[in-house]
Amino acid sequence: MGRAYAQTPAVGGKNALRWLSIIFAMAKAPSAEEQIQSLREEIRHHEHLYYVLDAPEITDAEYDSRMNRLKQLEQEHPGLITPDSPTQRVGGKPREGFPKVAHSRPMLSLDNAYNEEELRAWDQRVRAGLPSSETLRYVCELKLDGLSMALHYTHAANGAAHLERGLTRGDGTTGEDVTTNVRTIRSVPLGVAAKKLHSAHLPADFEVRGEVVLPQTAFVRMNEERVAAGMAPAANPRNAAAGTIRTLEPNIVAQRRLNFYAYFLLRNGETLLPSHTETLEALRTAGFLVNPHAKTVKDIDAVLEFIARTEPLRETLGYEIDGVVVKLDSTAQQRRLGFTGKAPRWAIAYKFAARAGITKLEDVLFQVGRTGKVTPVAALTPVLIGGTTVTRATLHNADEIERLGVKIGDFVQVERGGDVIPKIVAVVDDKQHPRGTQEIRFPAKCPVCGSELMRIEGEVDWRCVNNSCPARVREELLHWSARGVMNIEGLGDAMVAQLLGQSPDLNPAEYALAGESDAVTEEGAPIATRKPLIHTVGDLYRLKREQLLGLERVGEKTADALLAQIERSKSAGLARVLLGLGIRFVGERTGQLLAQHFGSMNALRQATAEELEAVNEVGPKVAQAIVEFFAVPKNLQLIDDLESLGLKVAAEKKVIGTAFEGLTFVLTGTLPTLTRDEAKEKIEAAGGKVSGSVSKKTSYVVAGDEAGSKLEKAQSLGVKVLNEAGLLELLKG
Ligand code: IVH
Repeated sequence: MGRAYAQTPAVGGKNALRWLSIIFAMAKAPSAEEQIQSLREEIRHHEHLYYVLDAPEITDAEYDSRMNRLKQLEQEHPGLITPDSPTQRVGGKPREGFPKVAHSRPMLSLDNAYNEEELRAWDQRVRAGLPSSETLRYVCELKLDGLSMALHYTHAANGAAHLERGLTRGDGTTGEDVTTNVRTIRSVPLGVAAKKLHSAHLPADFEVRGEVVLPQTAFVRMNEERVAAGMAPAANPRNAAAGTIRTLEPNIVAQRRLNFYAYFLLRNGETLLPSHTETLEALRTAGFLVNPHAKTVKDIDAVLEFIARTEPLRETLGYEIDGVVVKLDSTAQQRRLGFTGKAPRWAIAYKFAARAGITKLEDVLFQVGRTGKVTPVAALTPVLIGGTTVTRATLHNADEIERLGVKIGDFVQVERGGDVIPKIVAVVDDKQHPRGTQEIRFPAKCPVCGSELMRIEGEVDWRCVNNSCPARVREELLHWSARGVMNIEGLGDAMVAQLLGQSPDLNPAEYALAGESDAVTEEGAPIATRKPLIHTVGDLYRLKREQLLGLERVGEKTADALLAQIERSKSAGLARVLLGLGIRFVGERTGQLLAQHFGSMNALRQATAEELEAVNEVGPKVAQAIVEFFAVPKNLQLIDDLESLGLKVAAEKKVIGTAFEGLTFVLTGTLPTLTRDEAKEKIEAAGGKVSGSVSKKTSYVVAGDEAGSKLEKAQSLGVKVLNEAGLLELLKG
């Protein structure tokens, strides 16, 4: 291990002076400032080992304990908190939207090559642009499927550099300042110490460009959550990463485990070092995450070899790549070649072919979504595509079926990009072996409840018009409870089915029959098993313990846990409720913006289209959808119902209470259930202040286990002391 927090002086020095100084150093306990410094250095070191080098040397618990100690010290000495402290990754929430900032030099894109011939032609052009006497080298890198980002570092204390700003690519000339969110990415150094700058030969003000990448596991999880919540899945990891980096909740960004791979180093908009190879090396030395699969080679044949070796890696990397980027190594040669309008002449992206497979279309199922939208889903003969077995693909809508001219029994080409949901891109014509195929009949009535299907003029989708269609209610409930929406654990498919009076084991095909009262499952069990316990989302909040205990496979523990989850969801806040209501076009981000702007459901439901459009990023289409939503009596009823059932429908900023106004609290020790942040949040939400040190002016000290000197001080000053229960009591009263 490199640096250790409690450094033991090396014993064995012979001269007395050295010993004296050691004894002196040991006698003098490190000041809080020294402890903080040393902890920060140590934590940074371990973050680098973990997030950048992927080679941790301590356990998560050991890391957490150092972090907690640092948090505690900083809380006690708020004056010593600096923005580059590892505790400051998740800071305050960004304001409405993100400010726009001009780039030091445009962030361009790359020209593409799709085969060997195009790549060799590019190599020819590069050579033609340079004097024939010059040799050249290329650097091959993975083409990461993420979004590009510019990080600006500037002078900090003690010759170090600190992260000043993170900008998205935006339109290439101007980006969005997403610093708050970028700070949560663990592989982004918040600061670079003078020593590291020195070994990397870097000044303290520089700009690093690179790619923000979402790991595949996080991408799949995020899309599962989105699909479960009735939202469209992100099309690829790039969109998912972009959506994440632009959310207004830094906590969400922190959870998604984004990575930042650095690949450019600039100063005042100019490349700093003489070659790209040296740039990557310097970035690595300075502590940035540089993709390990980069290689400097001598000619285009070696580039082609690199590509051939890299393509199979795709399945094992853990993040999505869509090709290889080839860059001319020498900065001087790059300058000579320059740029075309939108891309450098000295670099090119070699794109891999999309992963595709051919299989047979066995059948088409029609799914009814939360909004009543009917989606045709292809059931396929299982086929292995890029390491994943694909059995379903989306056919989007009736127009798409017509456009493809696809029939049941056809062989189809299925593509899987970075997407979770594969799509059918073409029918594979086989005139020599004509098969018996069958026309796909789009249903005229809702496949679940039998109501009319309607198509709004100008739209492609057919929708079930019945607001109470069991399929729609089911999807509404699943959306409401989903992670990222109201987060009600334990309210999944099987539980929702039972609450709606259906068997917990329905599969989607059987579910399509659920509207028919005498329908049975494959095993012959009736589909509709009992009277529904609930009919609307509001009914969830009226559920009784006895009712749940009457369901299949629900014991006391399950029932109580679910009720506790439902109760807890009442305080999810306005933004989540808006998302949960499933207003068209109102996703996570719009929900947050609306909640911030209007502050309460009441204010929002009275807003005119014009007032809605005053909100950043809300255009006429979204405004119209919101107005329409609040014009439907059933929706207003549900909102009133939810409000009377105790759901919190005001945004955070408007609920700051006055109960604790003028009171100052000091937190010390470990509380039994609340973290320090949670306790602080509660106190502040009630209008109180939290301070780091005890004085005569302190109103209360809240003490937990192992409360130390602050508790003693409170007692000696006669300041009132509470435990956690006492605090909660006070908050209630
Ligand atoms: S170099 C002017 N290197 O690909 C130079 N880009 O199609 C452009 N990308 O906007 C960037 N991996 O978001 C570079 N190793 C890599 C890359 C990479 C992914 C992205 C980047 C860029 C896009 C261009």
